[in-house]
Amino acid sequence: MYLPSSIRFTLMLSVLWLSVIVSVSGARQKSQLVPDVASTAYSETLHGERKCYNLRVRDANQHIATRLTRYFVFGGILQAIAEQTQIPREDLVSGGPSQNQDQSSGRGPKYHAAHVIRVGSIDGRLKQKNASLNTALQNYIGHTQNVIKAANVWHGVAGQIDLFQSGKLSELAKIDFGGAFEPTNRRKVEDLMTEFRKIIDTHVNSGNQAQEEQSELDAAKIAVHCAGASMLFEAGKEGYQMVKSGNFETHYEKS
Ligand SMILES: *[C@@H]1O[C@H](CO)[C@@H](O)[C@H](O)[C@H]1NC(C)=O
Repeated sequence: MYLPSSIRFTLMLSVLWLSVIVSVSGARQKSQLVPDVASTAYSETLHGERKCYNLRVRDANQHIATRLTRYFVFGGILQAIAEQTQIPREDLVSGGPSQNQDQSSGRGPKYHAAHVIRVGSIDGRLKQKNASLNTALQNYIGHTQNVIKAANVWHGVAGQIDLFQSGKLSELAKIDFGGAFEPTNRRKVEDLMTEFRKIIDTHVNSGNQAQEEQSELDAAKIAVHCAGASMLFEAGKEGYQMVKSGNFETHYEKS
């Protein structure tokens, strides 16, 4: 059954919000299913200009683009938590396979509950120093979006983004989201953005996708390229402020 993307998007969101938390296999802990602060409403930071948002053909593209934007939000969150707890930023989370997942897709084999941020474990000191921040961070990292399976496995693009997110944590930790964009922070943001785009371009240009996947990948490219360096830096600042204002804790800490 083919539905217009806007309807499918709404449907998927409903499922995301309403689905019973199904326990997942393996060693992952179950984190609480917390609706994302920004998941329903249009947000300039998250989606770029409105015209870019309207080009969003499928949830899959949105998901891929979100994985870059949200990585910077995450960077800002880590910085603020580090300042609050005196735990060095680069120690707060390690790279590697995700330890938390809020839900399985609940929609059968065509859909995946795919991580937006996929990193490893949280430093044990955080739980001792500030248990509620620890829980909030666990829930943030565990957050998944339901996407059609093709988006999660597109020629390994999802796996490459996983590696990017884990492998660039020390670079991310060098950006000062409490400071000015120019000139140093801009360079650091651009370096990460360029790396991410390389991953997307490599997969878009690999040339052996089926017709339908090809068009999805083109759309993913558009969505990703809508994000500019200053917008990504602003996303990081939002994450930073979200912790400072206490909203992060209030919103994600549901233990
Ligand atoms: C934990 O961190 C939050 C956010 O920075 C802060 O408001 C709260 O007071 C901290 N709690 C403790 C016990 O340090």
